[in-house]
Amino acid sequence: MIRKLAPSILDADFSCLERELRKIEKGGADLIHLDIMDGHFVPNISFGPKIVESIKSKTSLPLDVHLMIENPANHIKSFIEAGGDIITIHYETCRHLDRVIQTILDMGAKCGIALNPATPLNVIEYVINKIDILLLMTVNPGFGGQKFIPEMITKIEKARKIIDNQKKIISLEVDGGINLNNISKIITAGAEIIVAGQIIFKSTNPEITIKKIKNILK
Ligand code: DX5
Ligand code: ZN
Repeated sequence: MIRKLAPSILDADFSCLERELRKIEKGGADLIHLDIMDGHFVPNISFGPKIVESIKSKTSLPLDVHLMIENPANHIKSFIEAGGDIITIHYETCRHLDRVIQTILDMGAKCGIALNPATPLNVIEYVINKIDILLLMTVNPGFGGQKFIPEMITKIEKARKIIDNQKKIISLEVDGGINLNNISKIITAGAEIIVAGQIIFKSTNPEITIKKIKNILK
């Protein structure tokens, strides 16, 4: 399994995003994780498709768009047109999950489903073979810099088993509270794509921090 690092720019300096993107690229990140928050599904507001489009024009890394928004179906088109390569929606925001997945796939993007910490894994039983990514939230979504919820290790292990039993290749992404002390435990449990925000952008040298994480992922 080739593990990947997806830095979240949520805590980057938005006044000079291009410079922040160069740090991500130089460090050797694999994807860029974009946290979209609407102030309804989660208590915080971040940014929309316009910023995604600007980021797309300044990097060739794939954009991993994490939609923490109500009624995601209304916004899928604009985020794909803005350059989103992976569109991840929350199970908790979709009354017609199967239909929303199909919409994403029909528009040519990869589809991820995110689960909040308290949401059980069995809710995706009948859609798992359609999705490309399962994203497990290891904090309650809404803010960077929160503490990893320890119970999520068991959930990652269980998700790994479920995924390995499918014919389709599905990537297991883990998001929230990941740092240099807990990362080994998280990858041993079965995580494949690691999202990291504050640990990178609150460090004195994000490029070196990315390199350090990439080394652990090898
Ligand atoms: C939380 C977001 C995460 C978060 C990651 O709602 O989905 O992507 O910003 O940041 P850290 O690594 O700081 O928890
Ligand atoms: Zn995220």
